Amino acid sequence: MNLETTYLGLKLKNPLVPSASPLSRDLDTARRLEDAGAAALVMYSLFEEDVLAEEEQLTGLMDFQDLGHGEADTYLPLHPDYKTGLDEYLEQLQALKSSLDIPVVASLNGATESGWVEHGRELEQAGADALELNVYSLPAVEDSAEVVEGRYINILRQLKSHVQIPVTVKLSPYFTSLGYFVRQLETAGADGVVLFNRFYQPEMNLDTLDVEPQLHLSQPYESLLRMHWIARLYDKVGLSLAATGGIHGAQQVLKMLLAGASVAHVCAVLLQRGPEVIGEILQDMTQWMEEKEYESVNQLMGSACQVNAIDPEAWDRMNYIKTLRS
Ligand SMILES: Cc1cc2nc3c(=O)[nH]c(=O)nc-3n(C[C@H](O)[C@H](O)[C@H](O)COP(=O)(O)O)c2cc1C
Repeated sequence: MNLETTYLGLKLKNPLVPSASPLSRDLDTARRLEDAGAAALVMYSLFEEDVLAEEEQLTGLMDFQDLGHGEADTYLPLHPDYKTGLDEYLEQLQALKSSLDIPVVASLNGATESGWVEHGRELEQAGADALELNVYSLPAVEDSAEVVEGRYINILRQLKSHVQIPVTVKLSPYFTSLGYFVRQLETAGADGVVLFNRFYQPEMNLDTLDVEPQLHLSQPYESLLRMHWIARLYDKVGLSLAATGGIHGAQQVLKMLLAGASVAHVCAVLLQRGPEVIGEILQDMTQWMEEKEYESVNQLMGSACQVNAIDPEAWDRMNYIKTLRS
């Protein structure tokens, strides 16, 4: 069975790619993911807040040395081993690159146009095969859709002006007109989109009235939103489509591919069942494809997208009405 796929111009041996998560913080775990069959690896994110905090701290430290101590400066040199969050990220990226044969995608996660994405160049120099840009921001009531979308476009343009490697944008589903916006991202230079970010709504504690973070891992039904939008976008945009969210087994992976995704990202299922589940998913996929007489992933990719669907309206409002009436 030929499971090869092309994502962001990278040739991958199959469409299963672990998405950004703490699993890439540990080299042994990363090797286990590769051994189990992962075709590429997305690293945990380097956060804008961490980069900016480190920069501020460093500037503060330099100013303190400059202003406060005159000729005593030499007694307070910056320690040669002082490492910023960025340095640590770059080190881990280099370590992953030298331990693994599969492509490594570095992840930048932020919300503002302050120029933090210029660090993308260092990630490229450290060996990243591609970059995933995760813009996770909650619009203020003053922000029009145009302002919000413009922010994404500007951040993407800034990043693209600093790197040559492919850039994909991880999006939330909350856009006024997702298809139009994805086309704008493509025009601004995006090589792909990853659909969709999961938002983590904070919980309220009724005893303390505190707002507290909470993490619920995804459920397979969440993959339907991803499948729906990938099916609607495939063949209408030119960039690579990746699915993330609720992909827990071969069934979801196959549906994403049939809808038009080039890769299916997995995260929760790896946290719950360990890296080796990748081998199981690949085996189940292959079995289904053999039964249905497919020869390759390329052959099935996009064959049930909206454009190719037996009933294209089923991907539209008609599905909604049928569902309610059923
Ligand atoms: C513990 C944990 C850490 C994550 N860290 C990141 C991150 O650093 N950057 C990012 O873009 N997504 C991060 N994600 C989101 C995942 O990459 C993925 O998109 C999301 O969990 C949906 O996929 P799933 O349903 O397979 O879990 C994280 C998810 C979890 C559960």
